Amino acid sequence: MSNLLSRADLVLPGGMCGHLNPSFMPPGFPRFFNRAQGPYAWAEDGVRYIDLVAGYGTNLLGYNNPEVEAAATQQRVAGDTTSLPMAVMIELAESFTDFVQHADWAMFMKTGTEANTLACAIARAHSGKRIILFDKAAHLGAAPWCNPVRKGLLEEDRAHQGYFDLGDIDSLRRAVAAAGDDLAAIITPLFANDGVGSQDLPSAEFAKQVRVLCDQTGAVHIADDIRGGLWLTRDCSWSLIGPAPDLSTWGKALGNGYPIAGIAGCDKFRDAARAVYGSGTYWFGAVPMAAALQTLRIVKERHVHAHIEQLGILLRNGLTEIAARHDFSLEQTGPVQIPQIVFAEDTDFRFGFAFASELLARGVYFHPWHNIFLSNSLHTEDIESILSAADGAMESVSARQHLLQPPTGLVELVANLDH
Ligand SMILES: Cc1ncc(COP(=O)(O)O)c(C=O)c1O
Repeated sequence: MSNLLSRADLVLPGGMCGHLNPSFMPPGFPRFFNRAQGPYAWAEDGVRYIDLVAGYGTNLLGYNNPEVEAAATQQRVAGDTTSLPMAVMIELAESFTDFVQHADWAMFMKTGTEANTLACAIARAHSGKRIILFDKAAHLGAAPWCNPVRKGLLEEDRAHQGYFDLGDIDSLRRAVAAAGDDLAAIITPLFANDGVGSQDLPSAEFAKQVRVLCDQTGAVHIADDIRGGLWLTRDCSWSLIGPAPDLSTWGKALGNGYPIAGIAGCDKFRDAARAVYGSGTYWFGAVPMAAALQTLRIVKERHVHAHIEQLGILLRNGLTEIAARHDFSLEQTGPVQIPQIVFAEDTDFRFGFAFASELLARGVYFHPWHNIFLSNSLHTEDIESILSAADGAMESVSARQHLLQPPTGLVELVANLDH
């Protein structure tokens, strides 16, 4: 056990909370990074990895992006969290509502969980109704109402909720019918993925039906764009498949690594947004806002999406070819920029874990069960290095496939997920 991990074990319950608990990753995986730059991160022992997790989707432009850092530093010198917000908040709201086509106003907070929770409150305040519908397999956050693990929580935390399967129109209609005249909102992420499933996007017909059902019932459509936002297009990602939502929620990449999340909404919901009490001590910090403003500027002005899409296609095609050569079949689902890559029928994750370990030994930090994110700082040569590493990794996994064991910690976690 590394020195840091044994120290962490003593003072941090379980060594680390949530998805970063050591038992959810392969043995020998680094537990701490001590430096990150562009698409690379250095572990505590000084080894450099191409990091395909990009801070779980926070670092669209790569770690330590010089332009974002310059904007953040300039703001830090002027002030960050002070007794009043700084004018950068207005500038950010202007830029953000320009970026999100359906938006006339914005609110900012720190986490995606807070954004979704407040969006539900706005929907309930607007409609005067109670029930919120969503797909339980979607990760909407870690608050009691949506936490995928129920330990320590009450049944009552989930009061006035109903569920459907994202992409399944019949299940959506059933859930809407069961909600009767008490339906406040339908929440849809771009794909229902709590980290371990496939990432198939719903069809355009499903997206249309969400709009139709909201219009018929007066419910509010909330598009959760916390994971996909900024990674795919210069608008809410839902616009790629369907009609504009009423509210959209954002986080992760918005500040390119700085903690900031947001809600974007149209005028119809302005009064409800004004009526709810959304607040947090650090919500008004100016440095993350300056970072977000610069991030939006870069995404609007440069060819970020074309670049990472091109890299994503290269990676997807290359991996398909390499897997076939080693007699494996990969399930690569979701957009190529933020793909989920798992071995077909690897229900207990043993192949995914072995593959990730082998990639790690070859300088690539890949996630064994969560989707990855291809940051704009990657170059074609990095993808070529990853493919070369994947070739060696598959060969090694193939040679020892009969010896592989399932990772018990992750299997237990998945068994405890509430869906
Ligand atoms: C789709 C989606 N919604 C909401 C969240 C919650 O965001 P946060 O972890 O910032 O609270 C996440 C986090 O992974 C997410 O992927």
